[in-house]
Amino acid sequence: MAWDPEQYDLFQGARERPGQDLIAALPPLEPARIVDLGCGTGHLARRLADKWPDARVVGLDSSSAMLAKAVGQSSRVAWELGDIAHWHPPEPVDLAFSNAALHWLPDHQTLFPRLLLALAPGGVLACQMPRNFASPSHALMREVAATGPWAAKLDGALAEEPVHPPAFYWRLLRPICRSVQVWETEYLHELDGPDPVLEWVRSTALLPVLERLEGAERDAFIAAYRDRLREAYPPETGGHTLFPFRRLFLMARV
Ligand SMILES: C[S@@+](CC[C@H](N)C(=O)[O-])C[C@H]1O[C@@H](n2cnc3c(N)ncnc32)[C@H](O)[C@@H]1O
Repeated sequence: MAWDPEQYDLFQGARERPGQDLIAALPPLEPARIVDLGCGTGHLARRLADKWPDARVVGLDSSSAMLAKAVGQSSRVAWELGDIAHWHPPEPVDLAFSNAALHWLPDHQTLFPRLLLALAPGGVLACQMPRNFASPSHALMREVAATGPWAAKLDGALAEEPVHPPAFYWRLLRPICRSVQVWETEYLHELDGPDPVLEWVRSTALLPVLERLEGAERDAFIAAYRDRLREAYPPETGGHTLFPFRRLFLMARV
């Protein structure tokens, strides 16, 4: 997928906030080895490295474009190009951290127990994933995808509900963990600029569409989707646009 680090970081403050909240919710730890799975441009991996200056911190991502931006900023994080689906650390890690990345991977029934196998005894898997796939931003995208002349090309491109309800993760992981906490938070992001919800999803949820369409057809899709978004997310008095965004947090300790 063609991740665009500059477009993604347009909303860095709002995007980083859930990751900061996830770090703040971590239990007391003295980790020697940390991995940030799907680290993107590396903001949170750098924070983890600052928080635990003696730990070895690896930032793993499958996008060379995102990693190139991460590498361009000074830090002591070791950046690795790789796919979470095939990730096997050479030694068990004490903290596997992941912000807004694991929803891109299928089959959580298999994925999450496998990630736990990479943890050292007492280790923690801490992740945050969007769970707003029924919200207008995503529902309208699927509606436009299914009803335009591009419907055949986009068939199957947009996952309906890649993240399960909280109890799914608790039931899956509790029998093999010392503790599991799952919770959700709905953020009310305050966005600025023209068509900010479109600009937000352009670097994330819309990528599978942008990958399959080009030229005039891509422009027509974006225009149809943008018109629906304008109705669903009208600017407030004063010009800000409110973007409610529900996210699932998971903290599992083995
Ligand atoms: C929405 S960004 C989040 C980036 C970062 N964690 C943050 O919070 O700013 C999702 C990242 O996950 C990465 N990603 C998606 N699927 C992946 C996979 N299978 N393996 C590794 N990285 C993946 C993407 O390349 C992208 O950089």
